[in-house]
Amino acid sequence: MRGFRSKPSQSSTFPRSSLLLVLALALPLLLSACGSSALHTPLNPQSDAGRTVDRLWWIMFGMSVVIEGLVAGIVIVALVRFRRKPGDPDPVQITGNTRLEIAWTIAPAMVLVVLLVLTLTTMVNISEPKGTTMRVTATGQQWWWEFDYQGMNIVTGNEMHIPVGENVHIDLRSKDVIHGFWVPVLQGKRDVIPGHNNQLWFRADKPGTFRGECTEFCGAEHANMNFIVVAQPRAEFDAWVAAQQAPPVGDQTGLAAEGRDLVQGAKLDANGNLVSCIACHAIDGTNLKAKVGPNLTHVGSRQYIAAGTIPNDTDNLIRWIHNTQDVKPDNKMVFLNSQGSPYLLDDDTVRKIVAYLQSLK
Ligand code: CUA
Repeated sequence: MRGFRSKPSQSSTFPRSSLLLVLALALPLLLSACGSSALHTPLNPQSDAGRTVDRLWWIMFGMSVVIEGLVAGIVIVALVRFRRKPGDPDPVQITGNTRLEIAWTIAPAMVLVVLLVLTLTTMVNISEPKGTTMRVTATGQQWWWEFDYQGMNIVTGNEMHIPVGENVHIDLRSKDVIHGFWVPVLQGKRDVIPGHNNQLWFRADKPGTFRGECTEFCGAEHANMNFIVVAQPRAEFDAWVAAQQAPPVGDQTGLAAEGRDLVQGAKLDANGNLVSCIACHAIDGTNLKAKVGPNLTHVGSRQYIAAGTIPNDTDNLIRWIHNTQDVKPDNKMVFLNSQGSPYLLDDDTVRKIVAYLQSLK
């Protein structure tokens, strides 16, 4: 505050703060112009539907600029030209002007009609075309996404692979509260509502990894409920499908074997605490069949853990298994004893579990 007070006048601080405001508002636009496909904004579309929405956005933005310019211009002209000077008499008092009032009622109504027509046209243009063959059920839950490839026997967590240039239909389901499913570069967002079967579709133009996120506030970890969509050429996608349907291929000897025995056997760690992964997770082809947390069958092949929160590497996996609450406070993965108190597994046990998880490629 002292810094501001020592300034000679208000006028020298005002332009700087308004400049900052303009910069802050323009930043997303400037960034979106950089054109990287990894950029997470609807102004960097990577699909026909995305481009259609983008076009509408720019038209609306252009119209807003023109209208705002017009209104602000009239206000400025009025302020300058009709400013009261010393000795001026009282201005003419008027009680209304029917023609003006009709004009400023009809003009905005016309603008709204134009926007309505453009919006409805856009909605028709981005609706799902016939002939979608691939169907995936995306289930939102606090605070991660499950992707179940219908009829393909593939269940992944927070990572969705799709073939480039093909329509993918997505059935949106929620296990608990309202979430929002949004991959900004591919398609508009859609709410994911418990008991209400929403759906969406998209078709990626070219290969790339695109960020998706939850867009409805859904609790403490709403901000860390992300996922990625990996768009691949058909052959690469087919290879991914084959790998997901096959048993994990990682080396399961040494530490990994010890980890496997701890996890599958629900054994005790060095402090007598239960390795209770089996209570919440499934790993196909094993005795782990629970569906509370993400399916871990091929967790070693995923790029991120904790719903897009941190990259899937050894250090992060150790951090995560050691104490998930450090990484993502309030998330639902907690080891609880019979008294309901949380416990942490010892370091050796954590390292073994991590080696096993990494073998699940
Ligand atoms: Cu789920 Cu926000």
